[in-house]
Amino acid sequence: MNDSSYRPDALIASDISAYLAQHQNKSLLRFITCGSVDDGKSTLIGRLLYDSKQIFEDQLAALESDSARVGTQGANIDFALLVDGLAAEREQGITIDVAYRFFATEKRKFIVADTPGHEQYTRNMVTGASTADLAVILIDARKGVLTQTRRHSYLAYLIGIRHIVLAVNKMDLVGYDQSRFEQIVEDYREFANGIGIETFTAIPISGLAGDNIATPSTHMDWYAGPTLIDHLETVEVDTDAAKARPFRMAVQWVNRPNLDFRGFAGLIAGGTVKPGDPVRILPSGKTTTVARIVTLDGDLDEAVAGQSVTLTLADEVDCSRGDVIAAADSPPQVADQFQATIVWMDEEELLPGRAYWLKLGTRTVSATVQQPRHAICVNTMAELSVKTLGLNDIGVAEVYTDRGIVFEPYAESHDLGGFILIDKISNATVAAGMLNFSLRRAQNVHWQAAEINREAHARQKSQSPRLLWFTGFSGSGKSTIANLVEKRLHALGKHSFLLDGDNVRHGLNKDLGFTDADRIENIRRVGEVARLMTDAGLIVLTAFISPFRAEREMVRQMMPEGEFFEIFIDTPLEEAERRDVKGLYKKARAGEIANFTGITSPYEAPLNPEIRIDTTRTSPEAAAELIVEQIMGVWSPVL
Ligand code: ADX
Repeated sequence: MNDSSYRPDALIASDISAYLAQHQNKSLLRFITCGSVDDGKSTLIGRLLYDSKQIFEDQLAALESDSARVGTQGANIDFALLVDGLAAEREQGITIDVAYRFFATEKRKFIVADTPGHEQYTRNMVTGASTADLAVILIDARKGVLTQTRRHSYLAYLIGIRHIVLAVNKMDLVGYDQSRFEQIVEDYREFANGIGIETFTAIPISGLAGDNIATPSTHMDWYAGPTLIDHLETVEVDTDAAKARPFRMAVQWVNRPNLDFRGFAGLIAGGTVKPGDPVRILPSGKTTTVARIVTLDGDLDEAVAGQSVTLTLADEVDCSRGDVIAAADSPPQVADQFQATIVWMDEEELLPGRAYWLKLGTRTVSATVQQPRHAICVNTMAELSVKTLGLNDIGVAEVYTDRGIVFEPYAESHDLGGFILIDKISNATVAAGMLNFSLRRAQNVHWQAAEINREAHARQKSQSPRLLWFTGFSGSGKSTIANLVEKRLHALGKHSFLLDGDNVRHGLNKDLGFTDADRIENIRRVGEVARLMTDAGLIVLTAFISPFRAEREMVRQMMPEGEFFEIFIDTPLEEAERRDVKGLYKKARAGEIANFTGITSPYEAPLNPEIRIDTTRTSPEAAAELIVEQIMGVWSPVL
């Protein structure tokens, strides 16, 4: 097809279905544009849309329903208005997500992820980059390589984008100066090579004037390379790599319309599959063979990476949502401890030791991140020693999950190696991460199955283990009431043990202070110790402020159903302060104690405690009686 015969507007006018069909057969390139605030991103995207004489996706949709209006659009859009419109639209959507724009040329169709440039929107850049094949890194020729340029390049590289275009923009404002362009390319090369980007394509452009976007610039004879559109149209993206890998499919849902049919639906992340292929279900490790590949259009003889299918299996093996069906002879690994690279995307910094939801593919598990090994300075790539990660920080840390997950290193599989972290309380996505490798520790340290188990220990003591978790402000009366409860239990012949904050902090936890991170670690250790003591058959009482819901919830999750009792000693702050049994509130008010709960450090009251004691109405003795009664009530069939 030569240039004159390719007139999208004409084709749209005469035959809309032919126009759409033509689009369908073209290859698709997904790319992302990254730049700082004033680098001219909107202008560039406007220019790409404008010069490719294309219409927007929503207009395309309108055309499908209203072909009478065609013919006047596309070519007649005013360029300046178009750019203004794009900018306004993006500003509106700025805090929610990424704007995806569609355009096409004679050779290819494109989806461009347009992300805001402000530093605080690294999150959006990560979202946009996660599906992109190529990144256009935009540079203002007057400013050269900036911190944002380095950050965006590094993120694009981490996320696995291997095609980088360095678009040196606003060349018109530097007099189309060759040496300026070359200097920027040199600066960038030095940085790029340092982080592992071996090749990139540098193009001098002007989004505003249209130089080297769709047509070669008449102002830069010294540049003999492709225009931006030329490059985007011809760059080869490797879509076959995923197909060459061993077969993997994460189960998205189990389709069981009747007793005769059990199908496992999902997107094939790697490889190919045929009926009769031996497969392994992970993490269980059970093997079977594929019976059928079912789709809405009938059964297939073969399916490949990128296709969504439903598989049926030859045997009735256990397999549920989140499991991975993989080639039997080369399955992915299962592990629960990893080293990961993490991009922190939340205003609230990472709390090492806190349990977050980790979502990897179709699986969600509980996970903690350890104190980072280092953060990475995006300017120098130096490894910085840090205690945590804040907004936009990139770091390397160990991640522990509460159960084994099926994974592959991110470098081998984005689907089985890329994850996000979600705050369990706010439900916000706080980080994106890439699993680098599993720690051998996880594979080599196995849980010792003791012969005298938890049940045997408890039986010998003629009781059922319990964990009575007291929480409340300092001076609320936790220790006092817990002591009275233990006395009563003792009198009833029960075997118990009380772990008290002030005491444990003199021994096991004497290395911990009162920062959020230290309190989290305090509770994690106490939770683990309490759990072991219940394994020994004991009734354990703990008296710690334990100010955070997330950690109390974590301990609850560690315990078998029904054994954990959260007991909220509900003494209002004013009352605890009025009593001030240890004189600490007075000191805290005088500024002599930092991070004091209720004053300079938060307390998150339980939302649904098993027991709540209002100490302004109930005496310690009455409270203890009430607790024992309630617990005995629940226990009575057993005890
Ligand atoms: S927790 O927050 O980590 O659960 P924990 O119960 O172990 O706290 O310790 C609280 C006790 O430490 C308080 O009862 C008080 O005696 C003492 N303490 C010393 N400094 C602080 C502080 N900054 N905030 C709260 N309690 C403190």
